[in-house]
Amino acid sequence: MTPESDIKLHIINELSAGQFVSGQELADSMSVTRSAIAKHIKVIKELGLDIYSVKGKGYRLSEKLSLLDLETIKEGYIANNPIELHHVIDSTNAYLIRSLRENKNLINGHTVVAECQTDGRGRRGRAWVSPFGSHIYMSRYYQTSLGLSEASGLSLAIGIAVANSINRFVGNKAKLKWPNDVLVDNKKIAGVLIEAEGQSDGMCHLIIGIGINIQMPKDSSLKIDQPWTDINSNVDKPMDRNLFLTYLLSEIDIIMCTFRETRLDALYDTWNKMNAYKDKGVKVISGRNVREGTCLGIDSTGALLVNDNLTNTVFKAIGGEVSLRAANQ
Ligand code: BTN
Repeated sequence: MTPESDIKLHIINELSAGQFVSGQELADSMSVTRSAIAKHIKVIKELGLDIYSVKGKGYRLSEKLSLLDLETIKEGYIANNPIELHHVIDSTNAYLIRSLRENKNLINGHTVVAECQTDGRGRRGRAWVSPFGSHIYMSRYYQTSLGLSEASGLSLAIGIAVANSINRFVGNKAKLKWPNDVLVDNKKIAGVLIEAEGQSDGMCHLIIGIGINIQMPKDSSLKIDQPWTDINSNVDKPMDRNLFLTYLLSEIDIIMCTFRETRLDALYDTWNKMNAYKDKGVKVISGRNVREGTCLGIDSTGALLVNDNLTNTVFKAIGGEVSLRAANQ
């Protein structure tokens, strides 16, 4: 008997071309009943895909899907770090954290990619909307002896890699919002969430999580409470997600190499060139404390420098739970 998850994957594969697929033909091809197919479709819709049905024609996705394929990714991204591809996972970050706790032998650079996250995590306890086959959700393990202080610099560096990958396809529209959002036309297109685990042996284990919007299904978009965009709204033809991922993985390797050698010394200037708020009025919000000023950029430690226009002095915002708003918001 075909496992239930294989049936769902088969259905998704059949639908991915964006054409009508007959429910009866699906049922016949997998030797299951027509009503079993209807139940699978219901679950697939719950994974975030916009599927509709028309009597006499069958099921159809509202948009074509570009599904991930590990072999294709490995052909385009030649490296030694292990890559796992999961179809459905709770969260790629949570998965790597669990692997560490279970003492699975992770090597630096171990990467997990998923087609769908059922419990995707964003910054500050928010959820990260993660519909099936639509975006990029990936996490990478990074081990360092330099402690947690490295995490905030690292997330700025990763932001550059993500923005560079997006810019490869959308022109130079991707900008960075401190500490780790990537924006296109002032709308969020990607985010980075770095989580730390265990420091008992002096080693700090970091999980670098990256989410990038490629093609937002309509139903999923309704769950997002901030301005967003995706890559496909900014390009002429739909993005090949395997191709995008191979660029992203290579870009991360290049940036990580520089970061390991120089921390932010060789990167902060690049970050500042992509700063979405450069010379703009900003509010720096840290809990109940709000300070306003003109955004200057980051220094080599990753702190955000803001000019307090009343006193004409520069103050610094550093990592953690500080968040930035444009001064007119
Ligand atoms: C943000 O809030 O801006 C950060 C979003 C990070 C989302 C990614 S998707 C892959 C990885 N796994 C998660 O659960 N979250 C991160």
